[in-house]
Amino acid sequence: MTENLMYKMDGFASLLKERIPSSQYELLDSISSIANSNGVALYLVGGMVRDILLSIPYTDPDLCIEGESTDFVELLSQELTGNVIAQSDFGTAKIELNGTIVDFAIARKEKYQYKGALPEVEKGTIIEDLSRRDFSINSMAVSMNLRNYGELIDPNNGRLDLENRVIRALHPDSFLDDPTRLLRAARYAARLGFTLDIETKEWMTNSLNILKDISGDRIRHEIEHILGENQAVNILSLAEQLGILDSIYPSLRIPFELGKSAAEFGDHRDIALLSMLAYSLPPSHSKSFIRRLNLGRHWAKIVTDSHRVLGLIRELSSDLSSSEIHALLSDLHDTAICVGSLYTEPPVSDRLKLYIEKLRDIKISLDGQDLLNMGVPQGALVGTILNELLVAKLDGYIITEADERETVYRILKDS
Ligand code: CTP
Repeated sequence: MTENLMYKMDGFASLLKERIPSSQYELLDSISSIANSNGVALYLVGGMVRDILLSIPYTDPDLCIEGESTDFVELLSQELTGNVIAQSDFGTAKIELNGTIVDFAIARKEKYQYKGALPEVEKGTIIEDLSRRDFSINSMAVSMNLRNYGELIDPNNGRLDLENRVIRALHPDSFLDDPTRLLRAARYAARLGFTLDIETKEWMTNSLNILKDISGDRIRHEIEHILGENQAVNILSLAEQLGILDSIYPSLRIPFELGKSAAEFGDHRDIALLSMLAYSLPPSHSKSFIRRLNLGRHWAKIVTDSHRVLGLIRELSSDLSSSEIHALLSDLHDTAICVGSLYTEPPVSDRLKLYIEKLRDIKISLDGQDLLNMGVPQGALVGTILNELLVAKLDGYIITEADERETVYRILKDS
């Protein structure tokens, strides 16, 4: 048993104090005092409890209230000069207090009208709230109430599963109730290096079919989460092995070895991975894949452009000048081209690299105004000459600004 999992019930109060930075601890302490003096039962829940027990960095605190949250959130934002950022019909609220974003939710129980529907929500107890959650490791709470401050509430043995490094869903219908949990299971397993409980894995397999009924927005939202994770490639690869990717879109794959190179894309790592997913599909599927995930403009362009690179393979294999390569690729997203260079063989891959490493940065010095000042008449000719200059520069016929000017005067003389 790891050291921090050995804490006794009353020891969690000291564990919180030890793990939470003091400014945030003081904030939680103030929230807890206000809750206690107003008769509100307050609990720390979900990911923060899990991550504190694992001794790993956690994101912003999630708090759960038994009873009514609206008045309490108002009261808090007044007493602690906070800022209510969002409030929803489900009784959840996001409030910014002294620079920390705190999520509040009313303890609730959920009913699903049909499998995969968004839940109908009713107020419930903290135990009911924990029991509607996805995995045992996410279904623990720590009491912030005077009567039992620091008590770990763990109705689903999450602590034991943390210790055994297991992702375990709480009941056989969990993934049918909410199929996005299929992706969440892969996300937590790969992020934490945990294994999937055998029964949970069976429940997942039996629920794969229902992913086809889930809206593109909900799936995209989960994919966005995954692409933002450090372990994104491992998560996608596990999702592929479990048949989840295929159930989202037939034949969707992540090439594991290439995927690892996505780290080299730095801030563009997420779209590089999206592009790799797109490259796994036939180009004719662009539109339907974009529709399936209801992708926004930027992401849709990555998918389309990846497929356009595939569509250019024949042309890119023939003898081409630098300006011809530039003309084929200049409208396409750089990341889609870069990823394309990993997917293709020479000479295509070399040409894609040449574009990224050199051609895309070649610019001419003169602009339209310079041309007008040199006596080019206003109109289409300006654009034509600018293009001719770029072609000449790309192909190495001109180098300096003086060369460009000389070319313009020559064209004017000849026309
Ligand atoms: N939850 C759930 N089913 C979902 C989504 C969320 O049961 N489909 C519950 C889980 O108990 C989770 C909590 O809601 O702990 C908060 O969800 P979220 O913010 O997505 O996850 P965190 O636990 O905060 O974990 P992380 O952000 O680290 O992924």
